[in-house]
Amino acid sequence: MAVRGNSIIKGIEISEIVGLLNRAYADEWLAYYQYFIESKVTKGIMKDAVVSELTLHAADELRHANLLADRILQLGGTPLLHPQEWFKQTNCGYDEPKEFDVVAILQDSIKGEQCAISTYSSLVDIVKDKDIVTYNMVSQILADEVEHEEDLQALHDDISEFIFNIKKSLQ
Ligand SMILES: [Fe+2]
Ligand SMILES: [Fe+2]
Repeated sequence: MAVRGNSIIKGIEISEIVGLLNRAYADEWLAYYQYFIESKVTKGIMKDAVVSELTLHAADELRHANLLADRILQLGGTPLLHPQEWFKQTNCGYDEPKEFDVVAILQDSIKGEQCAISTYSSLVDIVKDKDIVTYNMVSQILADEVEHEEDLQALHDDISEFIFNIKKSLQ
């Protein structure tokens, strides 16, 4: 544990930060798997564009899990050791894909990103002025989640418009 590094944390218990980071860590693994499996099962129009976006996001969520695990260790905590803990500690849960068409898959993913944005936004508020290192890290992750939502929404809107125009031209 980084003794001097952790001594600069003030106004919050380190165990509280570790608990919050572990919850986010659970979310990231579940988000990673959701993107991973969505990229495998999705089908329909413009599928290739959707698969490459989902694959990129999966890699980002895994990178976030990595950042969180390293910070938890720096703080003297232990990242969740058993996948069963992911379901007990998650903020955002896991949305098993039920419909595999690209539009439904994108809608599920957008919902997940919106939950991630809320989670990191409250985490940023909690550690602000108390733990600068965690603050910088969660701010960066929050910026990624905002970008994820935007990318998915843009793709969703493009595909919806494309389908709408095809239907119109077939009438
Ligand atoms: Fe993430
Ligand atoms: Fe994300």
